[in-house]
Amino acid sequence: MECILVMDYGGQYCHLIARRIRELGVYTEIISPQSMVKDLEDYGQRYNLKGLILSGAPKSVHDEGALRLSSDLMDYLSVKQIPVLGICYGHQLIADYAGGVVKPGGKKEYGITEVSIDEPDLLLRGLSDRESVWMSHSDTVEQIPPDYELLAHTDNTPVVAFKHKLSHIYGLQFHPEVVHTPCGGKIFNNFVHVICGCTGNWRIADFMTESVKEIKNKIGDGKAVIALSGGVDSSTAALLTHRAIGEQLVSVFIDTGLMRKNEPEAVRETFEQQMHLNFRFVDARARFFKALRGVVDPEEKRKIIGNLFIRVFEEVANNINASYLVQGTIYPDRIESGLKDAATIKSHHNVGGLPDVSGLEIIEPLRNLYKDEVRVVARELGLPVEISERHPFPGPGLAIRVVGKVTEESVAVVREADAIVEEEILLAGLDKSLWQFFAVLLPVKSVGVQGDERTYSYTIALRMVESVDGMTANFAEVSYAVLGGIATRITNEIPQVNRVVYDLTHKPPGTIEWE
Ligand code: XMP
Repeated sequence: MECILVMDYGGQYCHLIARRIRELGVYTEIISPQSMVKDLEDYGQRYNLKGLILSGAPKSVHDEGALRLSSDLMDYLSVKQIPVLGICYGHQLIADYAGGVVKPGGKKEYGITEVSIDEPDLLLRGLSDRESVWMSHSDTVEQIPPDYELLAHTDNTPVVAFKHKLSHIYGLQFHPEVVHTPCGGKIFNNFVHVICGCTGNWRIADFMTESVKEIKNKIGDGKAVIALSGGVDSSTAALLTHRAIGEQLVSVFIDTGLMRKNEPEAVRETFEQQMHLNFRFVDARARFFKALRGVVDPEEKRKIIGNLFIRVFEEVANNINASYLVQGTIYPDRIESGLKDAATIKSHHNVGGLPDVSGLEIIEPLRNLYKDEVRVVARELGLPVEISERHPFPGPGLAIRVVGKVTEESVAVVREADAIVEEEILLAGLDKSLWQFFAVLLPVKSVGVQGDERTYSYTIALRMVESVDGMTANFAEVSYAVLGGIATRITNEIPQVNRVVYDLTHKPPGTIEWE
């Protein structure tokens, strides 16, 4: 299988690079910037290594302790004739390594910039003489290294693109991976197909066949268990594994009492009745409400739910006598936890795979897939669209959509409100354009009047956001007609609520969830 590696120096667009290349039918993996020749050799054993991309970084090659390119690595690539493309920081790394001059903290270039193509060569073939590209850098390559030739410049930056005169080593100061560089697709196409010589025949269907084979080989006639939440990742992992080992997989669904309206029933119907999985339904509602009694602090709620979930699952798993634990961990989860130290804003209890039951060998069939690729697999496996296209829902469930104390009553109120939001947004045809849309119950009572009577009841906040990856988000400009319709239904249908407000906060500074 053809593979292009992306060396992650910590740039925010690293995953985007990998995904753009996968879209061209070439499998990619992200590797640590500390990878050495031996690591590349290992990859070379598993894949047909066709190219290496050096990502951007939020730092300077002049920073103390900055990672540099090693001559061992570059020599190895040259002997193996593996093409290299440096993007932004990667471009500066190559320049610095090859004896060019990288000027620190020069004139910042940020945003859309006009670039002049001096020499298209193979990488920029098919581009116009001037193109709009996305720049985001402060260091600049001032002087091109000896043995390299200039391919492009801007008014501010003398060396925007270069290549080695004799071998396939390229550098680009701008970001071809972002949508603001319209010619980016052509550039990647040139790199992947023309320079690296890839055929581009990687398909998700191949992944599924391989994955089923791999799971079968690994588990043999052993037993495996999975915590199935009904989310797209765990559902897809369960179905894929079921394809491989059938009844030997036990899928455990834990009803925490914190799910949305009819969700536990729908999950049961799908997996037990339609998909015929070996399905265990565990009603743990009372245990979760008991554990959450009186708890107000959001982090504490998350920890309690996460820990109890693991405990309940462990009890079931131990009875099953399984040797393997299947998890729906996907590629970004794994890479984020392995390569970077991200600051903890909220402890996402099921991000990165849950639960890690000691003594069981972990199998992660989706470990190398991105979310949209998981959705493709989900569709191919015949999962209903409610699951394959499901919007994100947090692991701790409705507990973090009740600000303040979590009781069966408060969860029931937010659950009803959530169901109304969902119905109305679907009816308005807005579900596809929104990242998430939901209700939050606030511990705020206010005075109202309903049916000629004074009321003193709770407030529901509506949260609807647009986002690409959940890392940043904008509140959605949903029409007053839709919002008003939702507010009317909520106050008419839920006696405990007499007021509805709309959250106008972007992320940052707010987060998407309220807790
Ligand atoms: P925030 O609130 O941090 O949420 O802006 C970003 C995205 O993550 C989801 N989220 C979670 N997902 N476990 C999850 O699996 C969690 O504990 C959790 N908390 C937040 C949130 O719904 C949004 O899509």
